[in-house]
Amino acid sequence: MLARGALGPAAARGLLLEGTRALRPQRRVGDRRELAARASEGCGANDPAARSAYVHLPFCRRKCFYCDFPVVALGEGATELRAQEPEIYGRYVSTLLREMEHYGGGGKLRTVFFGGGTPSLIPPRHLERVLGRLDDAFGIDWGNAEISMECDPGTFDLQRLVEYRSLGVNRVSVGVQSFDGRLLELCGRSHGEGDVLRALDDVRAAGFDSWSLDLMFGLPHQTAESWAETLEMAVAADPDHVSCYGLQLDDSTPFARWYTEGEGPLPSEPLAADLFRMASRELQGAGYSHYEISNYAREGHECRHNLAYWRDDPFYAFGVGATSSLHGRRVARPKKLSRYEQWVEGEGRKVGFPPPDWSGAPLREDEDEDERLLDLIMLSLRLKSGLRVNGLNERFGRAGRDVERRVLAAVEGHAAEGLVSVSEGGHAIRLTDPEGLLLSNSVISDIFVALDDDEDGE
Ligand SMILES: C[S@@+](CC[C@H](N)C(=O)[O-])C[C@H]1O[C@@H](n2cnc3c(N)ncnc32)[C@H](O)[C@@H]1O
Ligand code: SF4
Repeated sequence: MLARGALGPAAARGLLLEGTRALRPQRRVGDRRELAARASEGCGANDPAARSAYVHLPFCRRKCFYCDFPVVALGEGATELRAQEPEIYGRYVSTLLREMEHYGGGGKLRTVFFGGGTPSLIPPRHLERVLGRLDDAFGIDWGNAEISMECDPGTFDLQRLVEYRSLGVNRVSVGVQSFDGRLLELCGRSHGEGDVLRALDDVRAAGFDSWSLDLMFGLPHQTAESWAETLEMAVAADPDHVSCYGLQLDDSTPFARWYTEGEGPLPSEPLAADLFRMASRELQGAGYSHYEISNYAREGHECRHNLAYWRDDPFYAFGVGATSSLHGRRVARPKKLSRYEQWVEGEGRKVGFPPPDWSGAPLREDEDEDERLLDLIMLSLRLKSGLRVNGLNERFGRAGRDVERRVLAAVEGHAAEGLVSVSEGGHAIRLTDPEGLLLSNSVISDIFVALDDDEDGE
């Protein structure tokens, strides 16, 4: 099946409107003093190169049948905007703030992404606490930062969006998935078509700098006609950015128990490939640049936060199940809430520190240079800008290994087939759209094999 944006949706431009400074979360003097005290105790190291922070907010009304993300299902009662606020929000946000206490200093954040779960279930005052703490710990570059949040139809109204915006949120990503109500139901979504249309009206009215909608293809019983209609309605909604994720069957989900890849009622492989081609054609035809395998944007509305992931830049991450990438190592937090709470008070205290201070823990994933090289290749080839081949030897060519030659040789055949385009002089390579992107897995695995051969002393 096609690769989905494993790192989730994104945020865009990040230009705050005039006067937003006055609206940003108020700093609390006590927080600053407390953090200063911790810094003087030797706590609060971080990665000075990291300028992005991901914050995971795991609460949903119910769990969709295909979803493998760390989620806490609260039941449909959480749908009611005026329902009594579950205590669990406050408790979780307090744990997040505790986790952030282990950091401090370094460069100001340029992107913040509230992902979920359903962040739009969280009352604005809690989001304000989180933004305030991030500002205290790192500083937020308020004039330029992109501050995004994921919002699910049926969990917010215009007033709530205006409140989020007044806190500094300048980009939202709406989890539409489909405009076909029958498919939404088959996926176990808690919203229907009517909620989607109302949500999009509210998002447009709230006047964010940028907004996006998420769609999914390859769903059970999805036809080319239904997908064409969804794409048409997506374009008519006039978003700045669209994400199109191909369904992934994750083992732990009901979908994986019910369905088999490529077999009915899931679309066949050729149909799924056609759905990908349709999205590429229709969205580019409507003026969106296909800047990443699953993402399309109007000029200047690319998601800066997700671009940091795809460019393999370091980033902070906070919350249950979230993975950070600091000091050249990725660290995954526990996926269960109770274990995450324990982790924050234990191993989590050292994640911000550069090695060798990081004292080791089962969750640590040391990555050697080769793993970073493979990551870089995989992530860069998702992007329209492709992989810069020039410079790979300098960074990864230890013991005389000619990484650049190996990479170029591995894609020669694919270039002849029209799947890869190689820039003049072989400085960069990229997958062609849509055929190269559709076969990205086979191109990438050929590059990996070529690099392995190299390892074997070829
Ligand atoms: C994890 S969700 C969080 C946002 C929000 N709760 C929602 O469902 O839209 C982010 C996006 O990931 C995509 N997604 C989630 N599970 C997926 C799967 N199994 N296969 C493909 N895309 C998936 C959906 O498009 C979704 O909008
Ligand atoms: S609403 Fe989003 S995060 Fe929540 S269960 Fe569904 S797909 Fe997963």
